[in-house]
Amino acid sequence: MPTSAAFWNKIAPKYANSPIKDMATYGHTLARTRELLPADANVLEIGCGTGTTALKLAADMKSLLATDISDGMIKVAQAKPAPDNLRFATHAPDDAALNQLAPFDAVLAFNLLHLVPDLPETLRAVHGLLRPGGRFISKSACLRDGSMFLPPLIWVMQRIGKAPYVGKFYAAELEQAIAQAGFKINVAETHGKSFNRFIVATRL
Ligand SMILES: C[S@@+](CC[C@H](N)C(=O)[O-])C[C@H]1O[C@@H](n2cnc3c(N)ncnc32)[C@H](O)[C@@H]1O
Repeated sequence: MPTSAAFWNKIAPKYANSPIKDMATYGHTLARTRELLPADANVLEIGCGTGTTALKLAADMKSLLATDISDGMIKVAQAKPAPDNLRFATHAPDDAALNQLAPFDAVLAFNLLHLVPDLPETLRAVHGLLRPGGRFISKSACLRDGSMFLPPLIWVMQRIGKAPYVGKFYAAELEQAIAQAGFKINVAETHGKSFNRFIVATRL
């Protein structure tokens, strides 16, 4: 399997052109996120991809730094017209350079946590980037709560280089991992398909 950044760099142009499959659920996730973020929040997004969600949410907060490990994704995002309070940059969540910009009032991670090879390490990094009381808002695919055919299908796609690393966990396991990293879970909802979990947690 290629490294995570190499995989996402390769598919960035295609990803940028793929339409959102379920607009109603996407709109619901955006609306819930807006409800949970104060207008004066300085926010960090990790795994922002080509910036679609950052561009939709930036107007609802004071500032948004949208980051991704993939240069290819960030280049596509930077080519889009953006408001002054939104900046795109290539960073892994545990980059020392990102740490210097902390603390943030909120961290967003949409469609990311099932893709990180070391979930506890990523959650530790998010914890370190938030101020005490800051919010961590995520939506993740908890594949064990979905069809039993998904994991073998992903395994085959990985063998032929068509899928990156994918963590396979139940929603309850993800919630437990977030809590163990030093958060209190405030909201845990299913958005769209049964395995898509929207979780809001406060940094203790
Ligand atoms: C499925 S895409 C989701 C993009 C965007 N958040 C969305 O919802 O459309 C996953 C993104 O996470 C990025 N990514 C993968 N592993 C990462 C990691 N360990 N740290 C930060 N970003 C990562 C990829 O480069 C990719 O842009």
